[in-house]
Amino acid sequence: MGYNIAIDGPSGAGKSTIAKLVAKEKGFVYVDTGAMYRGLAIHFMKKGIKPGETDKIVSACEDAEVSIGYENGSQQIYLNNENITAMLRDEAVGSMASMSSGIPEVRAKLLELQRNLAREKDVVMDGRDIGTHVLPDADVKVYLTASVETRAKRRYKELLEKGIACEYDEIARDIEERDARDMSREIAPLKKAEDAVLVDSSDMGIEEVVAKIVELCR
Ligand code: C5P
Repeated sequence: MGYNIAIDGPSGAGKSTIAKLVAKEKGFVYVDTGAMYRGLAIHFMKKGIKPGETDKIVSACEDAEVSIGYENGSQQIYLNNENITAMLRDEAVGSMASMSSGIPEVRAKLLELQRNLAREKDVVMDGRDIGTHVLPDADVKVYLTASVETRAKRRYKELLEKGIACEYDEIARDIEERDARDMSREIAPLKKAEDAVLVDSSDMGIEEVVAKIVELCR
């Protein structure tokens, strides 16, 4: 078993930024499980399936193979051997991932991949259910959160910097909807594991959060 750091929390809490930096500092492998859900979402979208079409999503799971690799240290996602990493951050993909991640067959499809990675390597794995469900025996568990306002502001700034037009209110509403879906689903909902350390990054800088998590590993 590798040394496992699990970082869970709601959308936009900064999990991937923080997890990447912690992984770099520790010399561990960063595993972004959200990217795997996004990879499956692309598979469904390629088949022309719409978010609410559960039966079609369930049967589309049968011919989807998601795997991961690393190029210059950064995680790549393969869908049936095609590298689809460049498509993952698309808004429509995020939305499809959020809407399909509550389906048990979708989650089952990714669970073994995630567990195998943690078994073989020292990892920093981020997601929604890592500490509660995927790696219940992780060495360090963190629940990283921030207020809806903070998360929406960060996202708004990020999109503007990319030159994407957006409305702050719409982003805040979208974040609230994604939180509600992740927290209320029946299977592996987003919640803080009892033994996870709660870190609210609303008033913390990136380096401060990274230092706190590295400290927890001592
Ligand atoms: O974190 P990210 O936004 O990339 O995740 C995309 C979607 O995948 C989330 O909205 C969430 O519903 C789902 N997800 C999940 N469990 C994880 C990681 C992501 O349900 N461990």
